[in-house]
Amino acid sequence: MYFSGLMQVSKEIIKWYKINKRNLPWREETDPFKIWLSEVILQQTRVEQGLPYYQKFTHRYKNISQLANAKDDEVMKLWQGLGYYSRAVNMLNTARIIAKQHKAVFPRTYDELIKLKGIGPYTAAAIASFAYDEPKAVVDGNVYRVLSRLFEIEEAINSSNGKKVFSALADEMLSKKNPGIYNQGIMELGALVCKPRNPLCEECPVRLFCNAYKNKTIYNFPVKSKKAKPRERFIAYFLVDQKETTFIKQRLGKGIWKGLYELPNIELEQMAEINHLINTDEWKCLFDESKKMNIEQIYQAKHQLTHQTIFAHFYKITSLQKIIIKDKLCKSVKQSDLKLYAVSRLFDKFLNYLNLHSNQ
Ligand code: ADE
Repeated sequence: MYFSGLMQVSKEIIKWYKINKRNLPWREETDPFKIWLSEVILQQTRVEQGLPYYQKFTHRYKNISQLANAKDDEVMKLWQGLGYYSRAVNMLNTARIIAKQHKAVFPRTYDELIKLKGIGPYTAAAIASFAYDEPKAVVDGNVYRVLSRLFEIEEAINSSNGKKVFSALADEMLSKKNPGIYNQGIMELGALVCKPRNPLCEECPVRLFCNAYKNKTIYNFPVKSKKAKPRERFIAYFLVDQKETTFIKQRLGKGIWKGLYELPNIELEQMAEINHLINTDEWKCLFDESKKMNIEQIYQAKHQLTHQTIFAHFYKITSLQKIIIKDKLCKSVKQSDLKLYAVSRLFDKFLNYLNLHSNQ
């Protein structure tokens, strides 16, 4: 497509957007704090699912200082249900950096924003263009799809070369006059018309420019290279049931669910029978074996994360004696208080099963 063709495509997208956009609270918003919040929430989250979280967060935290001063646990609890908890942890860290190093004033330019740990190229471009109309192209999943189809790009969107190709093309397409609206427009076109399945090509304002439409190859794009098989993990969780109390522990370390609360647990090479479980070193490190305990499996779940499949078995442990847990990081809580803690979606499913589901 010639340069004038590209410009025509951007114009058509802007025209279409002005008429067809959904009214969403972060649109029309020029406060970079709120735009940033919306983008962090909407990464890997559908708009319908993200909307109530945006409302909760902007209601609770009116500006960067309020968020920076929030307690970690409170933010994790508000985030509960959205998944990808590292996003919430990074968000809070970024808020604290801005509060401390930038006197709680959000940086104004792409180059300043991208320097912040926790803000990547997509988010920096979104904030710079939506809040300040800086001409920086956003490239998210929607943009990959629209561009790959318009130009029948064979480059895989998850390859490093592919990322460069798409980024260069997105920059060329960007309207320098209305970058904020254009960026929102191409994302909205991807979300509402140029959908992954059943795209509404007949309603598309740029179908006459679209190579994949012309050649009936819409479903061949975007091209992705095959992902590695998700890693399988086996975790046994223990609900120690004593006089309506149980033990919980905050998950530490680098991996999944960092900062969230869960039952004491052990990870195994593969799921084991109870007889085998109670003979593992991990079990012996966790429980004082001199007590006679009953152990019974009460629930199991297969939980899919992006790169991992978790096979979880939940066991109830009872005893006529007082059960001693050797891990000093475990604390005793009332079972009815479990709903007050920030937990993973997997644990929330289990609480649901126990009928202790949190209402937030
Ligand atoms: N997904 C990511 N950012 C978005 C935005 N600003 N509007 C709608 N959907 C989005």
